[in-house]
Amino acid sequence: MRKSRFVFALLFVLTIAMLIIMPALAQFAPGKMPPAAVMTRSSETIAQTPAAPTAKLPNVVILATGGTIAGTGATSTTTVGYQAAKLPVAALISAVPELKKIANVTGEQVLQIASENMTNAGLLKLADRVNAVLAKPDVDGVVITHGTDTIEETAYFLNLVTKSQKPVVIVGSMRPATALSADGPLNLYNAVAIAGSPTAVGKGVLVSLNDQISAAREVTKINTTSLNTFQTPDLGYLGYVELGKPYFYRTPARKHTTATPFTVTTNTKLPQVDIIYGYGNNSPVLLNAAIADGAKGIVYAGVGDGSISMQLEPAAIAARQKGVIIARSSRTGSGRIVRNGEEKDDEHDFIVTDNLNPQKARILLMLGLTITSDTKALQEMFYTY
Ligand code: DGL
Repeated sequence: MRKSRFVFALLFVLTIAMLIIMPALAQFAPGKMPPAAVMTRSSETIAQTPAAPTAKLPNVVILATGGTIAGTGATSTTTVGYQAAKLPVAALISAVPELKKIANVTGEQVLQIASENMTNAGLLKLADRVNAVLAKPDVDGVVITHGTDTIEETAYFLNLVTKSQKPVVIVGSMRPATALSADGPLNLYNAVAIAGSPTAVGKGVLVSLNDQISAAREVTKINTTSLNTFQTPDLGYLGYVELGKPYFYRTPARKHTTATPFTVTTNTKLPQVDIIYGYGNNSPVLLNAAIADGAKGIVYAGVGDGSISMQLEPAAIAARQKGVIIARSSRTGSGRIVRNGEEKDDEHDFIVTDNLNPQKARILLMLGLTITSDTKALQEMFYTY
């Protein structure tokens, strides 16, 4: 009798327990994951709350300057020989209605040029607008549409003179807006997505084409026509942008934007700095012509590790003695110039451009000369920015 009462009590307790546990176990049956989370293939859990209220979209301003992204060709297969800088910023925005889903976008036409025609005055005007727009508390980021030919110089210039930590993303395209598989619309969408993302804050000026994100200081155009032309030799991309979201894997190491001493206005006088290309059998004629024309600095795109030929070295030494800054760079496209390696830099009072290519070295030397002509101070700038 006592045993049967014990068995009955045990069965009763087990039944109650099952009635409590079963519903909890049922939700983990295959295909019945809780609605609050879904395991993705990358085992990253993305919280999917039902019908979340629409989050406030970021306010992104598009500053247009022209280029192929605004270009038009005679036919849909005209990918070379089109006209750059034809479409206004409003047309670029209306061509991508999806922008409305990721940002509140407004546009401003700052310039309308093919970027081979960019001038110092154009750089100063663009920098002025970038700083003015970013100073507005309700603006979260800026996108600049730009021709790809000189995007790298403009990007580095803005990387040095923009006085905000908010994202600045420069975008272009390799095919005109009228072309089959035009790359501009998605490049623009991606650039707006990056500019509106908190993850892009404090990374300096960024360049994005072809789903990639690159640093203004190091990115360069390496191919005349390829969609994949923007590369960063040796150091690589900062990250990618996929499905309207940026993914960063590193941040720029050199100081930029609010951490530089360079400030400009539209009235700033940028000193003339010219680039002289090194090659076999060259002569000092072009160097001397640039100096006679008023160059305060010469960036020498030397062969190899910035070597200066015997034909040209006396003219470079004489130029330095007259107060012109001689900055040794390289035509190779990657690597550092080693001070006192191929030239007696200490003896001749030359400076080296670290790993900046000639066109970027010109930008830094121009801005450096607005502050000082002291070669030790200028050399330190090339190791800092
Ligand atoms: N004319 C060139 C420029 O505006 C076209 C190249 C481009 O924009 O992709 O840079």
